[in-house]
Amino acid sequence: MNKIVVFASGSGSNFQAIIDAIENGDLDAHIAGLITNKKRIQAIRRAQKAGIPVRVIKPGDYSGPDEFSAALLRQLRLWEPSLIILAGYMVKIPEEVVSEYRNRIINIHPSLLPKYGGRGYFGINVHKAVLEAGDDVSGCSVHLVNEKYDQGPVIAQRKVLVQTGDTPDSLAERVLAEEHKLLPEVIGQLLSATSNS
Ligand code: GRF
Repeated sequence: MNKIVVFASGSGSNFQAIIDAIENGDLDAHIAGLITNKKRIQAIRRAQKAGIPVRVIKPGDYSGPDEFSAALLRQLRLWEPSLIILAGYMVKIPEEVVSEYRNRIINIHPSLLPKYGGRGYFGINVHKAVLEAGDDVSGCSVHLVNEKYDQGPVIAQRKVLVQTGDTPDSLAERVLAEEHKLLPEVIGQLLSATSNS
């Protein structure tokens, strides 16, 4: 079974792109559940609408990082995903989780990594930095998650040209549109590679 688990902390438009790709028949996968660290986010409403189970697992609800990572692992062991997708998840994945799901956790990032990755490069900051640097091309990346923030091997990228007059918001919008296509495609490729191995 092509089971996946999605982690998200915000609007969840990439999560929605995965739901839609499955519903349209473009992606052969089953979303076992959504894990989030926030209670009131649009991603939860998207999950509820699609009948996908949600678990809110917040670092602050646990006595320390070990207990937080144990809670994540308990839930993941119940859901048994072949692949874990970080889609706008704003918490660093604990090393214990990376190690148990080595090469089976991917993240989508709104830049052409290794450019504009790592601490501070999230959300609109990424697009501001691209424009401030005067780059003529940006894009998005899907990469494997390892112990270092945004530094796991890149699996796939899609370029987006910077246009004259672009603002961080306008660039973000075009990059996000590419993310929505790239992420379901990569998930499909990885799942079929897993089921054929
Ligand atoms: C996306 O830009 C993604 O690349 C980054 O966080 C954002 C999440 O957006 N990691 P959404 O919640 O999927 O709308």
